Amino acid sequence: MKRILAAVDGSSSASRALQVACELAARPGARLWIVNVISKPGISDEELEEFRHAEGGSLSDLLDSLSTQVLNAARETAERRGVEEIRLISRTGDVAETIAAIAEECAADAIVVGRRGLGGLPGLMLGSVSLKLASAAPRPVIVVP
Ligand SMILES: Nc1ncnc2c1ncn2[C@@H]1O[C@H](COP(=O)(O)OP(=O)(O)OP(=O)(O)O)[C@@H](O)[C@H]1O
Ligand SMILES: [Mg+2]
Repeated sequence: MKRILAAVDGSSSASRALQVACELAARPGARLWIVNVISKPGISDEELEEFRHAEGGSLSDLLDSLSTQVLNAARETAERRGVEEIRLISRTGDVAETIAAIAEECAADAIVVGRRGLGGLPGLMLGSVSLKLASAAPRPVIVVP
């Protein structure tokens, strides 16, 4: 596996997924795409308020900025873990469909996701994004607990 896609949403589950993705991608000739899909339900009211005050920008600026933060933090982790080729992608759209489309575009050998993410109901085994990808993605999916 040389072309690894890690999907991150800022959750602890996604950061465990990123660690697994880094292990796969920290090899000569391997490349890591780190993807965050901008979706409004993913941010808490507190974060919204905080950013509104701090930056005074529009909602889309705010969402872009949250996405950039998540991706930059992930890039730092990947660099620390010895991944040499790193690409960051931020895009809007349906989360699972967008991740699957990007996986196709970059011909990923594996999509690595956390079992759960930021939202969702306690007690569920899988979040809707990991469930949808594991069920329907056209590429192998690694779901990290
Ligand atoms: N917006 C996103 N961008 C990139 N990856 C994401 C995004 N949302 C979720 N993921 C990926 O999918 C994994 C599972 O998250 P998921 O959203 O399915 O669970 P959840 O938030 O607990 O439940 P739900 O979103 O269905 O309420 C995350 O660990 C992450 O790897
Ligand atoms: Mg979620």
